[in-house]
Amino acid sequence: MPHSKITGVGMYVPETVVTNNDLSKVMDTTDEWIVERTGIRERRFFKEGEDTVSSMGAKAAQQALERAGKKPEDVDFIVFATLSSDYNFPGSGVLLQRKLPFRQIGAVDVRAQCSGFIYALSIADQYIRTGTYKTILVVGSEVQSNVFEKSDRGRNMAVIFGDGAGAVVVEATDEPNKGILTTKLHSDGRFAEELYLEHPGSRRKERFNPDMIEKGELLPYMNGKLVFMNAVKYFPEVIREALADCNLKESDIDLLVPHQANARITVAIQKEFNLPDEKIVSNIDKYGNTTAASIPIALCEAWEQGRIKDGDLIAIAGFGSGFMWASALIRW
Ligand code: UT7
Repeated sequence: MPHSKITGVGMYVPETVVTNNDLSKVMDTTDEWIVERTGIRERRFFKEGEDTVSSMGAKAAQQALERAGKKPEDVDFIVFATLSSDYNFPGSGVLLQRKLPFRQIGAVDVRAQCSGFIYALSIADQYIRTGTYKTILVVGSEVQSNVFEKSDRGRNMAVIFGDGAGAVVVEATDEPNKGILTTKLHSDGRFAEELYLEHPGSRRKERFNPDMIEKGELLPYMNGKLVFMNAVKYFPEVIREALADCNLKESDIDLLVPHQANARITVAIQKEFNLPDEKIVSNIDKYGNTTAASIPIALCEAWEQGRIKDGDLIAIAGFGSGFMWASALIRW
C-alpha cells in the first residue's frame, strides 16, 4: 500500500518587519511585556497590493515544488489551510490554483486555525494512502495583521499574531518505514467561542453594520489564559497518542516542531518531554504566531538549517481555536 512522504518544503514571509517597539508606539504595550509573556521580538506584516494569503502561499509552494524537483503540472491536488482567506468565498485553494501553471486539479480549503496545517497534511496523507493522488501540495498561509486593532483595545491579540506562509509537497512512496507514520486529529467545539471571530458570520440577519466597528465586534476574541491551559495539556497528550500508535517512545523523537503559539507553551512541552534545545524548534521570536503557517515555516527553517536528516523522527503538533488540536509523526 502506498503511503506519503514530504519531498519538499518552502516558505515565504513578507518583507516588512514590525518590532515590539514599533507596536509600543501605537498601543499601550512594551517590548519587555511581549518578550516575557510570549517570546516574540518581531513579526512580519503583509504589504497591501503585493502580498495576499494566496500569493504568499504560491511563493512558498513554488519553493517547495523546486526542492521536490516537481513542476506545478505534476501536482494532483491542493489542500490549503488558512483562517484568513483572500475572499470570504471562494477559498484560497482556487486562488492559488490560478497563480501557477497547475492543471484543473481539485483544491480545497481547510479551516482548522492553528491545527490547520496538520489537518491539511492528514487529508493529503489519506488521499495518497487510498491511491487517489500521487502528488499533493499542502499550504498554510495567513494575513492576520489587518484583523487586529493596533490600539490599546486590541493589544492583547495584536502583539501576538503575524503574517506568512509555508508549504510542503507530499508524494506517494513505497519505501517502508518512511514518510508520514500517523496523524491524530481532535476537536472540542464546546470551546468555539473562547478563541473566535464572530463577524461577518451568517448567524444574524445583518452580517455586519457600522455599529459593530464602534463596539469592537469585528475584532477576534481570545480567552488567552484558558487557551494556554488547554494547550499545555493537549500538546503532550496528542504527541503521546501518536507515539503510542506507532509503538515509539518519547526518546525516539529527533525533532519536535510545535505550532508557534507562545514561547512559554513551547518551553512547557520541551520540559514535559525532557528535550534538549536542539530537539525542539522555536522561531516565534522572529515571526510571532502565524497560525496555519507556523508549522510549515518552522519545519522549512529547520530543514534549511540542516536540523532534519534522512531517517529522523519528526513530531509536529498544534493546538488552537475550535478548540482543535492535532499531531503527526514523520520519518524523514
Ligand atoms: O495559536 C492560537 C492559540 N493561542 C494561544 O495559544 C495563546 C495562549 N495564551 C497566551 O499565550 C497568553 O495567555 C497571552 C500571551 C495571550 C497573555 O498572557 P497572560 O500571561 O495570560 O496575560 P493576561 O492576558 O492575563 O494579561 C496580564 C496583564 C493584564 O493586565 P492586568 O489585568 O493584570 O492589569 C492585561 O491587561 O497584561 C495586560 N496586557 C498587556 N500589557 C501590555 C494584555 N496584553 C498586553 C499587551 N501589553 N500587549
